[in-house]
Amino acid sequence: MTTSGLVALPPLPATSPRPERAPDAYLPMQQVTEQIAFLPDAWGAERRQKVQELFENLAAEWHTRGGPDRVAPTVDALERGGVPTGGVALEIGSGTGLQTPPLAEHFDYVVSVDLAAAMLCLAERRAGVGLVRADASQLPVGPGGADVVVCVNAFLFPDEYARVLRPGGRVVFVSTSGDETPIYLPPEKVVAALAPALGRLSAVTSQCGHGSWTVVARA
Ligand SMILES: C[S@@+](CC[C@H](N)C(=O)[O-])C[C@H]1O[C@@H](n2cnc3c(N)ncnc32)[C@H](O)[C@@H]1O
Repeated sequence: MTTSGLVALPPLPATSPRPERAPDAYLPMQQVTEQIAFLPDAWGAERRQKVQELFENLAAEWHTRGGPDRVAPTVDALERGGVPTGGVALEIGSGTGLQTPPLAEHFDYVVSVDLAAAMLCLAERRAGVGLVRADASQLPVGPGGADVVVCVNAFLFPDEYARVLRPGGRVVFVSTSGDETPIYLPPEKVVAALAPALGRLSAVTSQCGHGSWTVVARA
């Protein structure tokens, strides 16, 4: 148990050394991630445009960031994080779909949402997965329409996720390079950001290889 009351499961060790990453490569985006999670005004038209441009330009090479090591933390979050199978999952910031296959296996239906059209254009079309271009701060989903909201290397918009998440639903937050992931929040901050919006919750966290994850269950 950590000090903030979330349950920490034993880490699953990495089988390879963690690639070196300069702090400049992740700290600035981590600051943005934290602002968005805690300050409702941190996400506006100007920032949206900047973020969208950044990822439209990264789309063509995004597939080079795939691989089993990068998907393993997501699979572990679903399994050891106790995320029920079936139902509808919203995959936030789905990019080119590198993380979609384990989600498509776990849930009945996945809605993969991304701001960047160039990312979605490169995503594989598959049965049981819808691709939607939208801003995750204003999801085209009715209240309580999602069983699970999944963020793999994706921003947390607590109020919006609380709006679309049904009672008893889960928010899954995965960082594939752990605390060196650019879009990253420590587990305690994932819980602290979501708690005011979700109300009563429980949470579990762990590490898998180079990645880390937190699963928050709404009461
Ligand atoms: C770091 S990439 C992660 C992509 C994918 N989840 C992965 O791990 O390979 C972040 C993705 O979030 C998308 N994104 C950023 N802000 C968003 C927003 N407000 N709404 C929807 N998608 C957003 C970006 O376009 C980008 O594709």
